[in-house]
Amino acid sequence: MAKHKRIVIGNWKMYIDSPAVAMDVVRHVNRKTAGSKIEIGFAVPFVLLPTMANALKNSKIMLGAQKLSAHGGGAHTGEISAGMLKAVGASFVIVGHSERRENETDAMIAEELLRASEAKLRVVLCVGEKNRDESGAHFEFIAAQLKSALAAFPKISAARSLIIAYEPIWAIGKQADAAMKPAELREMEIFIRKKLTEILGRENAMKVPVLYGGSVEEGNAQSLIEGGDVAGFLVGHASASAATFLPIIQVCEK
Ligand code: PGA
Repeated sequence: MAKHKRIVIGNWKMYIDSPAVAMDVVRHVNRKTAGSKIEIGFAVPFVLLPTMANALKNSKIMLGAQKLSAHGGGAHTGEISAGMLKAVGASFVIVGHSERRENETDAMIAEELLRASEAKLRVVLCVGEKNRDESGAHFEFIAAQLKSALAAFPKISAARSLIIAYEPIWAIGKQADAAMKPAELREMEIFIRKKLTEILGRENAMKVPVLYGGSVEEGNAQSLIEGGDVAGFLVGHASASAATFLPIIQVCEK
């Protein structure tokens, strides 16, 4: 197993729309995790980035966005570039979340990764199958997602700035008991590591943390991190309040 610093990232999706509530959650988590040994981050809606950057000014908590444009700049109405994210204080961005892949092609995702890398943003690349059957086709599906996203990605940037989040779509947004089983997660972690080794070379691949996301809650975090052998979690609904997010962070601190 590769030894990475543990990482827990909250993906707020559209759960929080009030800047006051957002400040409250982030400040609370910040206070309770001062001196933490792990990496903690929040991927927030674009409009909350400046407020959050301000709230996290002297904090080690990482601030990130949930998507970015495949374009570097110019005439693209409504788009947000990697450079803009960097300028307002983001240090990472989620790319290829399944809720975005509905509107984005593999080619766009590969471009987005390049834009993020050029702007020196860390990238949380999400991969995950829609469903599973006996044939094991989900392994090939994940392999294809990794291959197309990383085909042109500079291998050296991957070692420095890439994080993979394995998020099976069938396990997202449920209660803890519907999430992935630890043994299945372990098997997938090994498979992803093998594919990363083929794509990036062993030395680079070993530096890439693999996270799990999909209905992570206080009740299953312990068994998933131990049994699944992942470096941490990408947490959706449970990250929208300090009361549900902090216990997951505490599990990862151990
Ligand atoms: P969930 O979301 O924890 O609510 O399942 C995870 C994600 O989609 O990133």
